[in-house]
Amino acid sequence: MKILTSSTRKGELEIVLLRNKKLPKNLTKAEKDTLEIQNYKGEGCCFVETSKKFFVGIESYSYPFPNAIRDALANAVGIIGKLKIKSAFIQVETQQEAKEICEGILLGSYHFETFKTKKNENNLKEIYLGSVKLEQASLESIIKRTQIISHSINQVRELINTPPMIATPKYIADYAQSIAKESGLECKVYDEKFLKSEKMGAFLAVAKASAHQPYLVHLSYKPKVAKGKKLPKIVLVGKGLTYDSGGLSLKPGDFMTTMKSDKSGACAVLGILESVANLGIKAEVHGILGLAENMIGGNAYKPDDILIARNQKSIEVRNTDAEGRLVLADCLSFASDLEPDFLIDLATLTGACVVALGDYSTGIMGYNQKLKEDFSKAAFEAGELSGILPFNPYLRKLFNSEVADLCNIPSSRYGSAISAGMFLGEFVAESLMQKWLHLDIAGPAYVEKAWGVNPFGASGAGIRAVVQFIINQVK
Ligand code: BES
Ligand code: ZN
Ligand code: ZN
Repeated sequence: MKILTSSTRKGELEIVLLRNKKLPKNLTKAEKDTLEIQNYKGEGCCFVETSKKFFVGIESYSYPFPNAIRDALANAVGIIGKLKIKSAFIQVETQQEAKEICEGILLGSYHFETFKTKKNENNLKEIYLGSVKLEQASLESIIKRTQIISHSINQVRELINTPPMIATPKYIADYAQSIAKESGLECKVYDEKFLKSEKMGAFLAVAKASAHQPYLVHLSYKPKVAKGKKLPKIVLVGKGLTYDSGGLSLKPGDFMTTMKSDKSGACAVLGILESVANLGIKAEVHGILGLAENMIGGNAYKPDDILIARNQKSIEVRNTDAEGRLVLADCLSFASDLEPDFLIDLATLTGACVVALGDYSTGIMGYNQKLKEDFSKAAFEAGELSGILPFNPYLRKLFNSEVADLCNIPSSRYGSAISAGMFLGEFVAESLMQKWLHLDIAGPAYVEKAWGVNPFGASGAGIRAVVQFIINQVK
C-alpha cells in the first residue's frame, strides 16, 4: 500500500472521516438520501456510490483511548480493499491525525498469508493525503516516519508468525544479521561456546534438550555526533523462546499452541533497533536477544536442578515452564555490564499478566514510579495499551528457596506476573534498579483474533511504545 500526498482530491474515491460520528454539513441531496435509506448514523462505514464517497465514522470514547482513528482506518481499508477500487483520497486536519491515519492504513493491511495458496487480494493500492491546514512537506515527513515504523512492525509480525519448524534460534540470529546489514547496525551473534564462557548457567539449561542451539544476539546502533556530546544509552533485552513446550513440566496441548509467539520480545527488540536506525534517532541503542527453544528429552533440565546464573546467584528449578525468566536472568546480567541510562526488557513472560490486564495491554513493572508512568504515557501516545503492576516486598519473598538463593517459581500463584517481574530484578545490577523497566507482553503480542490495527496472530506489541519512549528521551 502506497501513501502519497496531493493538494487536490485525487483517486477514485474519497474517504470522509466523521469525527465524533458527526455527518458533514455540506452533503448533497443524493448523499443525504443514500445515508438516510441505509439508516447510517456515523457508526462504522458507509459507501455512497454516486458521489464516490466512503464515510468512516470515528468513535468518540468517553474514557481515554488513543485508537479511534487508527482502528477506524484499519477497518475501512479492509472494506475498501474488497471493492474494485485502486486509489482513494483523505482530507486530514492535524499532524497527529495524519500519523494515526497512516498507522491505521499500514498496520491494518498486514495479514499472515505466506502459507495460503489463495491470498486475499487488497485492490486498494494508493491513498492520497491532502490537507488545507498542513504543509505538504510536513505531511510527507509524517508519512515517511510512519512507513519506517510500520515496515518494522509488519516484518516482526511475519517473523513471529513464522512456524517454529522454520524460525529456530539460528534463523532469528541470521535474520537479525541481515536486518543489521540493511540498516547499518552492528550485530554480534554469540553461540553456545560464548554462553559457556560467560557462565550463563540459567540460559544454557533451558536450551539443553533442544535440537537447535541457543544464540545470544547483540545489536547496536551508535549514531555519529559532534565530539563531546553524550547520547542517552538505552539497552533493550528480548525473550526469544522460538518454542515453549514447557519442557519436562510439559504444557497441556491447548496451552502449547501459539507458543511460537514466545519469541515476540526478541523479535520486537529487533524491530525497534531497525526503526531507531532508519529514523536516525539520536540515541545509542543496544538490543540483546536471548534465543533458545524449551523442549523435552533425555538431556533436558529438570525440576530439582539447581542452576548457577551469570551473576553467581543459584536458582532452584521447580517448574521448567518458567523458562523465560531463566534466559532473561543471564541476558539482564549481560546487559547490565553495558551500563545503560535505561534498561528495558520485553517478554511474553506470564499467563498471569494476561489474566490481570486482558489480551490487549502490556504489563509495566519496575522500581521507579516516574519511569513507569513516563513509559505508560509514551505507549499511549503511540497507540499501545498498558497497565502498571506494582511490585511489593511480600511478593518478592515468594521466591525464597530452601536449597538455593532463589526458586524459579513463586510459592503462591497469586500475583505471579508481578513476582516474575521481581525475579528478573534479581539479575539487574543494583546500580541500575531505578533505570530498569520490565514489560510483560504475553497478552498483546499474539491474539487469536483481529483487534484494532492488529490482524489475527502476531501484533508487534512493544515496538511503537518503546520507539516513542526513546524519542521522548532525546526531545
Ligand atoms: N511463555 C509462557 C507465558 C505465556 C503464557 C505467554 C500465555 C503467552 C501466553 C511462560 O514461559 C510460562 O509458561 N509461564 C508460566 C509460569 C508458571 C510456570 C510460573 C505461566 O504463565 O503459567
Ligand atoms: Zn514457559
Ligand atoms: Zn515462555
